[in-house]
Amino acid sequence: MERTFIMIKPDGVQRGLIGEIVGRFERKGFRLVAAKFLQVSQELAEKHYAEHLGKPFYDNLIRFITSGPVFAMVWEGDRIIALSRAMIGKTDALEAAPGTIRSDFSVTTRLNLIHGSDSAESAAYEIGNYFTPEEIVSYTKNIEAWI
Ligand code: TYD
Ligand code: MG
Repeated sequence: MERTFIMIKPDGVQRGLIGEIVGRFERKGFRLVAAKFLQVSQELAEKHYAEHLGKPFYDNLIRFITSGPVFAMVWEGDRIIALSRAMIGKTDALEAAPGTIRSDFSVTTRLNLIHGSDSAESAAYEIGNYFTPEEIVSYTKNIEAWI
């Protein structure tokens, strides 16, 4: 079982796509284990995107991710790191496969709605940037018991 860090970026929040995106992860069968609605600080943005420091799009990226509230989450599931990247789609909406979140709802590279960790290492790093261990909740699902 893997965990990954998923974040609906300011454009996704502004456009009212939290429910749509969370719904896709729920219907896929993944388990939400932590969530936080927050304004990303300059410091947190720089930590989150440290790997992109020095790239031509870096300043715009930091400005964008700190421009409004985001919805940060930890999701759990089998092979979720690779599977969630597949659900999200390629960075540029033009290259994202039809049916992916970015293809279905975004039109640019910069305003691409959602972040998802790209490896086990980045998942551990990113989860740790946004959540304490106590904020991550372990549980099992038993749908029939609740209907
Ligand atoms: P990256 O980690 O390459 O993409 P992904 O989000 O698919 O893992 O880049 C981080 C973010 O930086 C990306 O979501 C959007 C932005 N970005 C640009 O604005 N221009 C670019 O050319 C690239 C590669 C990324
Ligand atoms: Mg990335």
